[in-house]
Amino acid sequence: MMTMKESFGDYSLIRLENHKGMTVTITDLGATVQSIFVPDRDGNVADVILGYDTPEEYLENDGYFGACIGRYANRIKGARFSLNGVEYKITANEGKNTLHGGTGYQVRRFNIDSMGEDYVLFSLTDPDGTDGFPAKLEVKVKYELTDGNELKISYEAVSDGDTVVNLTNHCYFNLAGQGNILSHELMINADSYLEVDSELIPTKACFVEGTEFDFRKPREVEKPYYDHCYVLMGELCAEVYERQSGRKMKVITDMPGVQFYAGGTTSDRRGKNGARYGKNSALCLETQFFPDAPNRPDFPSTVLKAGEVFKSTTSYIFSAE
Ligand code: GAL
Repeated sequence: MMTMKESFGDYSLIRLENHKGMTVTITDLGATVQSIFVPDRDGNVADVILGYDTPEEYLENDGYFGACIGRYANRIKGARFSLNGVEYKITANEGKNTLHGGTGYQVRRFNIDSMGEDYVLFSLTDPDGTDGFPAKLEVKVKYELTDGNELKISYEAVSDGDTVVNLTNHCYFNLAGQGNILSHELMINADSYLEVDSELIPTKACFVEGTEFDFRKPREVEKPYYDHCYVLMGELCAEVYERQSGRKMKVITDMPGVQFYAGGTTSDRRGKNGARYGKNSALCLETQFFPDAPNRPDFPSTVLKAGEVFKSTTSYIFSAE
C-alpha cells in the first residue's frame, strides 16, 4: 500500500495505491474523488469515474463529479425548513429548491488532516449560517483503500447547535471506462423507491414491483432518465456489472437510501485526457438520507443535535469476473 501527495494546480491530489492494481486519487478541492483505476477480468486497468485534469474545470463545470456533497445532499423543497420552531431559509439553486446544499462543499478547500499508507483524512469547518444552515458543522471525511479493492468512505460530523446533515459522495461510474452506461447491469436492494414531482421532490414511497424501477434482480439500466431515491433494505445497497470488461462494483452502506442517477442530464463536455462526456456517460449511486427529509416528519430524521457525533460509512468494492 502506498499514499502520495502531489500538486493539483493550487490544490493537492492524494494518490492511494493498493497491491491489487487499484489506484484512487482524491483532491482537497471538494474532497473530490478524481480517478479510480480498476483492473478488468484480464488485468487491464481503466479509470471508472468521470472527472477533470484540473481544479479549474471542476470549478467551472456543473454535475458535482466525484465530490463530497454537503451540508445537505439532494433536494430541500422551497429552500426552507423549520427546526425547533425556527424557520431557516437556505440558498435556492435549482428553481425554488435547494440542491446539494446550495453553494455546497464541492467548491470548498478541505483540510488534509492526516495520511497513512492506505488512507487520507480530510476535514472541513462549515461556519454557522453558510447557505442559511444553522450551527457550525465540523466535518471529517476519510477515504481508505484496502487490498480487497474496497474504497471505504467514512463521514463524521459534529455541530455546535442543532442542524440537519446529509453527506454523500457523487462519483459518476462507468465500469467500461468509456461509452454509456445503459447496458450496465444494475441491482438495487430496494423494494420501494420515492416517487417524485416535476421538480424531483419526493411525494410518496411506492413499491417497485411491476414497475420500471424494479432493480431487485440484476438487469440492464436501459432507460436514460432514472433520478430517484431508493429505500434500502439492508447494508447491501447495489451491485453494478459491466459485461465487456467483467468489472463489478458492490456498494455497501449504513444509510437508509440511495439516489440512483443515470446521468441523463449530463451535458456534453470535455473530461479527463480529452475524453468526451455527455448524457448517460456514467451513473451515480449516492448513498444518503431521503431528499427533503427536513420537511418530512415521515422520513428518517436528518437532525444532528448539538454535540452529538454523526457517523456514516459507504464502501465501493470492485472486482472482475
Ligand atoms: C444528482 C441529482 C440530479 C442532478 C445531479 C447533478 O444527485 O439527483 O438531478 O442534479 O445530481 O447534475
